[in-house]
Amino acid sequence: MTFQNIETLSWIGDRHGWLRMIDQTLLPTELREIDCRQVETVWEAIKKLRVRGAPAIGIAAAYGVCVGLQTLPQEVDFNVFRTRLNEVVDYLASSRPTAVNLFWALNRMKAKAESFYDSKNISEIRDALFSEAKMIHEEDRRICRAIGKFGQELVRDGDTFLTHCNAGGLATADYGTALAVFFAATEMGKKISVYADETRPLLQGSRLTAWELMQRGIDVTLICDSMAATVMKQGKINGVVVGADRIAANGDTANKIGTYSVAIAARTHRVPFYVAAPVSTFDLTLTDGNSIPIEERDAEEICNGFGKQTAPQGVKVYNPAFDITPAELITGIITEHGIISPVKRENIAKIVQL
Ligand code: MRU
Repeated sequence: MTFQNIETLSWIGDRHGWLRMIDQTLLPTELREIDCRQVETVWEAIKKLRVRGAPAIGIAAAYGVCVGLQTLPQEVDFNVFRTRLNEVVDYLASSRPTAVNLFWALNRMKAKAESFYDSKNISEIRDALFSEAKMIHEEDRRICRAIGKFGQELVRDGDTFLTHCNAGGLATADYGTALAVFFAATEMGKKISVYADETRPLLQGSRLTAWELMQRGIDVTLICDSMAATVMKQGKINGVVVGADRIAANGDTANKIGTYSVAIAARTHRVPFYVAAPVSTFDLTLTDGNSIPIEERDAEEICNGFGKQTAPQGVKVYNPAFDITPAELITGIITEHGIISPVKRENIAKIVQL
């Protein structure tokens, strides 16, 4: 997402440089960037959702590896280098558990380093890791455009769509996944409207999605999560598109808490329900959604969100950050390789392995 020359994520300088990102916790009232020159700062930014959204977390982590290796002197023993790399990768992997793009990007970085281990040339490995991080970043831009291109075919002129959470430019390198569908449809000259669920408890829908859509001049109406079923019943919604954090081999999809309720409401009201996600969000090692790890977050997010106490002191709280939408509720999954529909294990395997 680029506004006023500000990108969701950018790398400043050469491989000795640092990671810069929009601090998404401050939006929509303040558009400010922060610099991450230490791996601890990258970890904290992911944990605290300064950078969030599955693909953006993966990109941040890839750059985080480069930042984490900068603590080593230029001339360093190979074993010391390898130990530090593993330590940095494991540390970044501990920031958030659900979005598989984090682990996908870290594995890719580790594999890149390992492919140079025979040479034991540290400078060469550092260069290769920096190029790999930049490649992960650049690839995501292209992937989001391709998702938009395929997804916009599902949108007719005059349609109204609903989305949940934020799967926009802020959640990716640029352009988004679910929101890419709306951006691409608009670029094709289709006039569309979007209902954005506010997305309790951290309000990614109201703070980020409504903001992004308004920035791009797309007609957006904000609703509370609890209103989604009603607007569908009122016949206002032609389709739903959401993003994903991890998709199992059978198509069961983890996404922001509340997505499952939207899918149930969509099925009841015969509204098509689409997931838009890059191939890197699929986890074919998991047979179904039951084994997707679901992050549980701090009670404060529900009881004291944004600095105001909204629940009695000491109340028991359950705060899962994601839920699983079963594959049978998903009309199609929009990827950079095309649309998977019906959402069946064999169709997924075909598209993901392209
Ligand atoms: O907790 P968040 O804000 O990281 O959750 C983000 C989502 O659930 C998105 O829908 C998902 O990561 C897809 S982003 C293209």
